[in-house]
Amino acid sequence: MTGRLGGGHQSDRLVPLPQQVTPRDGSLVIGAHSRVVAGNGVDPMDPVVVHLVADVQSATGLHLRRTIEPPARGDIAVRIDPASSSRHGDEGYELTIGNDGAEVVAATRHGLWNGTRTLVQLFSHSAHDGELPAVHIVDRPRFEWRGAMLDVARHFFGVDHVLRFVELMARFKLNRLHLHLSDDQGWRLAIDGWPALTGVGASSAVGGDYGGFFSRADYLEIVAHAALHFVTVVPEIDMPGHTNAALASVPELNLDGVTPPLYTGTEVGFSSLHLAAPATRRFVHDVIAQLAADTPGEYLHVGGDEAHSTDHSAYLEFVALLQREVHSHGKQMVGWEEIAAAPLAPATLVQHWLHAAVAAGAPSGARFVMSPARHTYLDMKHTPDCRVGRRWAGFIDLATAYGWDPAALIDGVGDDRIAGVEAPLWTEKVVSFADVEHLCYPRLACLAEVGWTAQALRTWDDFRPRLQVHSDRLAAIGVNVYGPPAD
Ligand code: ACM
Repeated sequence: MTGRLGGGHQSDRLVPLPQQVTPRDGSLVIGAHSRVVAGNGVDPMDPVVVHLVADVQSATGLHLRRTIEPPARGDIAVRIDPASSSRHGDEGYELTIGNDGAEVVAATRHGLWNGTRTLVQLFSHSAHDGELPAVHIVDRPRFEWRGAMLDVARHFFGVDHVLRFVELMARFKLNRLHLHLSDDQGWRLAIDGWPALTGVGASSAVGGDYGGFFSRADYLEIVAHAALHFVTVVPEIDMPGHTNAALASVPELNLDGVTPPLYTGTEVGFSSLHLAAPATRRFVHDVIAQLAADTPGEYLHVGGDEAHSTDHSAYLEFVALLQREVHSHGKQMVGWEEIAAAPLAPATLVQHWLHAAVAAGAPSGARFVMSPARHTYLDMKHTPDCRVGRRWAGFIDLATAYGWDPAALIDGVGDDRIAGVEAPLWTEKVVSFADVEHLCYPRLACLAEVGWTAQALRTWDDFRPRLQVHSDRLAAIGVNVYGPPAD
């Protein structure tokens, strides 16, 4: 059995490509009498079921009733089978569509979510077309961490935009939202007991543009909305560098007690927290305590990149403090690859972005998130004539965003030491959400397949028409999707 598809089958609408797709003869036509059947282990009010009903309606115009009755002809059934966990893992599923009905089975709710994402992609998404191709799909992801990062520090994007960002990424089974919440140009999360961080530090942005910040309630709303889409939020407070906004807000974070001015440029590497300043340890403690309290996910991101004005031994001491604080609140740490120089706990994740040799310096056994800039940095232009974006890591066209293997980046680091992949969108040059969409889509769909689909099943020629289906669908729902010139 193989994941490669014969030409013309309707399952060439799937991104990411499943592990095993076996087309069968015939099709299922969803009609006015079809229902969504919540079977074993599934509450009919479960968001997985509610989303499935809404998504079938968007795809076909049909509103299906939910029921817990046994499935009948034409129904879509979803059920949990805990005994299938050895086959499906935490996120895998089995989808069977025949002439009489469809069924999604998984060991977990997350697996059901992924299976229903696949099912929804199989509709033609043209009005009044409820036909699904008969097919048997067995699927599970290559990597558990499939993320996108949004920098809300250089330019701020509010709750509604972040919720939309989540909804779009979840279409492609992406499951980590890394929020870059602080940098030299802005502090974007209210922290109890530290009103100046937002009172002062949230007012600025690159180029003198509007700032802004999330209240604790805003953050919890994002976390909750992400959870409904099986996306885990990974909050980042970048330390000890990239901290001018905090230093400008709180005199006691500075060795001389004097706050530097707010910063609206785009240089990096000039700011640093100091452990010897009177408020630094309390600040680190309070920030991490609040993030831990408000974040259900296992990981907190502490930054650690480009601390060029932090003395090396002070940097190592700082990273050790961050790791202790994260652990003391029951969480694990993730940091940019520069933290590889510090003693790291086995569960700490190192996020590779620029120099494989730096990442490779991590303790043996360390695990990685792969964000190689020349393939995943969403702030790079697609092509030289793109209006938005930067170019320092090169142009990232769709073939470049797709054509890399996470296991071929760092010597000796294969799948067993890779938690997954992530594409960051830095926003120095990104002002509007229309530009966010233009830089993210469809490149985030490329990343989704890099993170999900086995390397041996992926080819650009096979992917390209499937990607086009999704570019068209995204455009149809109003996403400002990038369209490469036809060749
Ligand atoms: C980074 O791009 N400074 C991680």
